Amino acid sequence: MSSVEMRNVSRVYQSGACEIKAVAALDLLVESGEFTVLAGPSGSGKSTLLNLAGGLDRPTSGEVFLNGESLNNQSDDQLTRQRLFKIGFIFQAYNLIPVLSAYENIQFTLQLQGIPESEHAGRIRPLLAELGLEGLEYRRPAELSGGQQQRVAVARAMIGQPAIILADEPTANLDSESAISLLQLMKQLNDEKGVTFLFSSHDQRVIDIARRVIRLRDGKINEDTGKSC
Ligand SMILES: Nc1ncnc2c1ncn2[C@@H]1O[C@H](COP(=O)(O)OP(=O)(O)O)[C@@H](O)[C@H]1O
Ligand SMILES: [Mg+2]
Repeated sequence: MSSVEMRNVSRVYQSGACEIKAVAALDLLVESGEFTVLAGPSGSGKSTLLNLAGGLDRPTSGEVFLNGESLNNQSDDQLTRQRLFKIGFIFQAYNLIPVLSAYENIQFTLQLQGIPESEHAGRIRPLLAELGLEGLEYRRPAELSGGQQQRVAVARAMIGQPAIILADEPTANLDSESAISLLQLMKQLNDEKGVTFLFSSHDQRVIDIARRVIRLRDGKINEDTGKSC
């Protein structure tokens, strides 16, 4: 089953009198179970592509499908629901809620999804253990290292059981050791639980860990290696 599909997708930004083609007539199929990186220099369209894939932005032309369902004709409210149930996001700057503990940050997704409170601990506790966060659950983000905060963000992205996790340069704010360790954790979750990841990076050591590497240049796919079929 496909997680994300793009058909002839373009995203044009208007900048004064100029048009910037951030993504240009791009076709992409990311299937369930992939562990795929979007590589490419700054300005090549990585963030724009991820935002389109996650329904945070709409294409100027073309069509985006999530789990086979087109996002094109969906209202903003419908897109918000799609994001809540089908997508986990991880951001470069972690984006945890500062006044909530690690546990509460993860729990927040379940609350938004309307999952009964009685089920929360049973889902959050095993995930904390799996992500090496036991003992840190009552700390607020400011009391955690960057690597620990990003692990909480991975847990928050996973807890709602999304079809795919999208991560825009998730290791950009981490030192290289924490970056590699976060990627290894993500790959382990992919291996053992089949969680689908599409993430961006311009760090070659991070890119090397991915199974499939899609290199973007000027909003187009320049190279696509390691595809499963
Ligand atoms: N909101 C925006 N308004 C105008 N141009 C933008 C906007 N966002 C991105 N761009 C342009 O689109 C292109 C792709 O940007 P982006 O997707 O952020 O690339 P990357 O994430 O690979 O650095 C760049 O030329 C960038 O300047
Ligand atoms: Mg970017």
